[in-house]
Amino acid sequence: MAVPTRALLDLEAIVGREHVLTDPEVVAGYTTDWTGRFIGSRSPVVRPGSTAEVAQIVGVCRTAGVAVVPQGGNTGLVGGSVPLDGELVVSLTRLTQVDVDAAAAQATVDAGVPIARLQAAAATIGMGYGVDLASRDGATLGGTIATNAGGTRVMRFGDTRAQLVGVEAVLGTGAVVSHLAGLTRDNTGYHLPSLLAGSEGTLGIVTRARVRLVAPGTEPAVALLAFDSVGDAMAAVAEFRRAPIGVEAVEFMVRSGVELVCSGDRVSLPFAVSYAAYVLVEAAGNDEVIEPLSDVVAAIAHLVRDVAVATDSPRRAALWRYREAHTEAINRVGTPHKLDVALPAAALAAFVDEVPRRLHGWNPSARVWLFGHAADGNVHVNVTGVDPDDKTVDEIVLRLVAEAGGSISAEHGIGRAKAQWLHLNRTPEEIAAFRAIKAALDPAGIMNPGVLLA
Ligand code: FAD
Ligand code: MLT
Ligand code: ZN
Repeated sequence: MAVPTRALLDLEAIVGREHVLTDPEVVAGYTTDWTGRFIGSRSPVVRPGSTAEVAQIVGVCRTAGVAVVPQGGNTGLVGGSVPLDGELVVSLTRLTQVDVDAAAAQATVDAGVPIARLQAAAATIGMGYGVDLASRDGATLGGTIATNAGGTRVMRFGDTRAQLVGVEAVLGTGAVVSHLAGLTRDNTGYHLPSLLAGSEGTLGIVTRARVRLVAPGTEPAVALLAFDSVGDAMAAVAEFRRAPIGVEAVEFMVRSGVELVCSGDRVSLPFAVSYAAYVLVEAAGNDEVIEPLSDVVAAIAHLVRDVAVATDSPRRAALWRYREAHTEAINRVGTPHKLDVALPAAALAAFVDEVPRRLHGWNPSARVWLFGHAADGNVHVNVTGVDPDDKTVDEIVLRLVAEAGGSISAEHGIGRAKAQWLHLNRTPEEIAAFRAIKAALDPAGIMNPGVLLA
């Protein structure tokens, strides 16, 4: 539905005319998702400058019956951040304050702060933020909380939920809940940060959070390992998973994706030939780590066909680029179906082999791109060469995941893209509990309708 003029005037009175955007050209960047698969209506965008303004906006929307799509950096990949049904977009990007508390090793951070800025703020006291992802320059703290983003450091520091000490949010009821004292020992009932993490804007709008900061490892080393098969690569990943300390990231790629990145970037691999599968490992570079890791290296030596190691920052970045550039390289091929799934460790290699077989059996022109956060069993299945609107692709992959005992969302969330398949992972009783929580915190049903719960 369109946002009524009366409501727009009320919104202008709250945030100022300049922060209610209606020009179709200006709102275009807010209404289409990063992949180009989800194209919303040219809805208005409101840009609040404080939690109090967010609360007033939710009040106006409740009264007018206007549905709301909260938005951070609009880097989400499951169609949850754009207005597909004429909703009002509430952009949090004007909320940009970061306060680092060195004594507590924590930070109080506004929802609109990009992850790269939070990382830089943490670095000013010699610390880091536990979540890192290739979209770090655009993805905001609020968006990463709402999606419970994972990224490349989950094996070391956990997902976004694990970083949260407290949150401030405007619930769908219009109430402001704020718990930002930063007490890590605070066992006083329901843990709202955990509930809001992964809620994808369906319960309320996160405006601030209190996050823990982490001690970064010493100067890291990055190794790109080449294998003859996905099975060999996954056997090596299992060894790294059991490594004693210091392993920060273990990522995997296959030949087609790496070749795509190389041709897009006009670079070559640091190897004489190309291989079926690759694993990228980052580990702290000090002796206490390198020494115990030598056992892992010995255990996988018979599997590894070639290796490139980088210890200085530019060469580390060059090795990471083979992995992090996958997303943009695939988008250049065509609008992708992006399925971000998790498999039990033992089922990972067979799944990676089976997915292309099943998809080609259905449609030979499907191009299947596989990569992911191997340490966590998180596989990104991207499919181009097929109609972006044909949900058969999603159905085939997600059913295969469920058959293998996996999760249909490892880190990106359910969004609108996967809402109809939530039942593959959640029982009717669980979904009923989700709906009861939603009804309590968003009784008018205005918070991101259609996302998560179909
Ligand atoms: P948006 O895209 O704006 O929104 C995402 C969802 O959160 C929507 O449902 C939206 O309504 C809701 N939302 C946003 N802000 C708020 C708020 N303040 N309060 C309540 N709800 C809100 N994701 C990973 O998990 N791991 C990765 O490794 C990773 N790598 C990526 C790499 C690239 C190149 C790209 C483009 C994306 C990647 N992503 C990854 C996906 C994306 O960056 C994450 O999902 C991120 O958490 C989205 O943050 P955002 O601020 O852009 O949120
Ligand atoms: C990644 O790990 O690169 C992301 O989650 C983005 C993607 O799936 O393309
Ligand atoms: Zn990812």
